[in-house]
Amino acid sequence: MATIGVDIDVAKAILEQGGLVAIPTETVYGLAGNAFDIDAVAKIFKTKDRPTFDPLIVHVDSFERLSEFTEELPDKAVQLTKVFWPGPLTILLKRKAVISDLVTAGLETVAVRMPRHELTRELLKSLNFPLAAPSANPFGYISPTTAQHVQQQLGDKIEYILDGGDCRVGVESTIVSFEDEVPKVLRLGGISVEEIEQVIGKVEVNSHSSSQPQAPGMLKSHYAPKKKIISIEDFDEGMNDLSACGFLRFNKPDHRFLLENQIILSESENLNEAAKNLFGSLRALDQNPNINIIVVSFVPELGLGRAINDRLRRATAK
Ligand code: TXA
Ligand code: MG
Repeated sequence: MATIGVDIDVAKAILEQGGLVAIPTETVYGLAGNAFDIDAVAKIFKTKDRPTFDPLIVHVDSFERLSEFTEELPDKAVQLTKVFWPGPLTILLKRKAVISDLVTAGLETVAVRMPRHELTRELLKSLNFPLAAPSANPFGYISPTTAQHVQQQLGDKIEYILDGGDCRVGVESTIVSFEDEVPKVLRLGGISVEEIEQVIGKVEVNSHSSSQPQAPGMLKSHYAPKKKIISIEDFDEGMNDLSACGFLRFNKPDHRFLLENQIILSESENLNEAAKNLFGSLRALDQNPNINIIVVSFVPELGLGRAINDRLRRATAK
């Protein structure tokens, strides 16, 4: 089992020796290693069982650090980072050669973000390299939003989990690319499309192509629990033992079904609260021994609701 603690010096020492540490961010926990150390980066892929065609996000605490490994930011990227950094926004930038092909899966761009969580910011400040960090879950499974979630799944593979409490946002960062004239959202996430468009105008949302995943959180089937999971639209009441069904609901229970098997994301219909509760709730249903199938209903398609529905669609995709 990994040690769970709040000691930045311990985390720093492990990272400086080329090891991995799970770190808290405001979105989800990350599995971090030295982005300039190819062996550390290789360990990240191995620990997560992640295919190497799926590139990593590099985390920084300053623009000075960023400029060590990326070319200049396009204007719209500058505008977005002014408003949303530190925070749940990832941007794709042209990379310099110090970043290995392993980090970017051979792409000419590197994904970067400046996280807001205080503990991780302090850690980043103490290091003289940036941190490559995918979500700290086995590839394809639900992302972790507490230190205990990380422990459950990667605890036997890593030494230390930096405990920053519950993640405040609860879904991953929004990924934006500036390669074309109109910027593209490649993954819906913690900053809503509406918020982005208020700053830089119209963007394209292109998070659903599954044939050639450009941002492979774009892979169709992802964020999935181990149990069978299905959307309420596809659920056949007659074909299932309802007492063994778990339900993930938005604002209120469905009285046709057992109350104790239902989890409500936000009674007050607050989409931010729903996002914060999403992954933990899916996990709880997945671990509930009285449930053998998870039925989910979608939330309103606006604000963070789009990011939530995106995760639910992928979780229920075959
Ligand atoms: O909120 C987050 O972004 C969390 C925390 C830990 O920062 N990290 C995270 O990382 O969600 P991960 O590895 O689970 O998802 C990163 C996504 C992947 O879908 C990957 O394909 C995409 O970013 N990505 C990375 N580099 C890319 C690039 N150069 N071009 C397109 N997509 C890229
Ligand atoms: Mg992930």
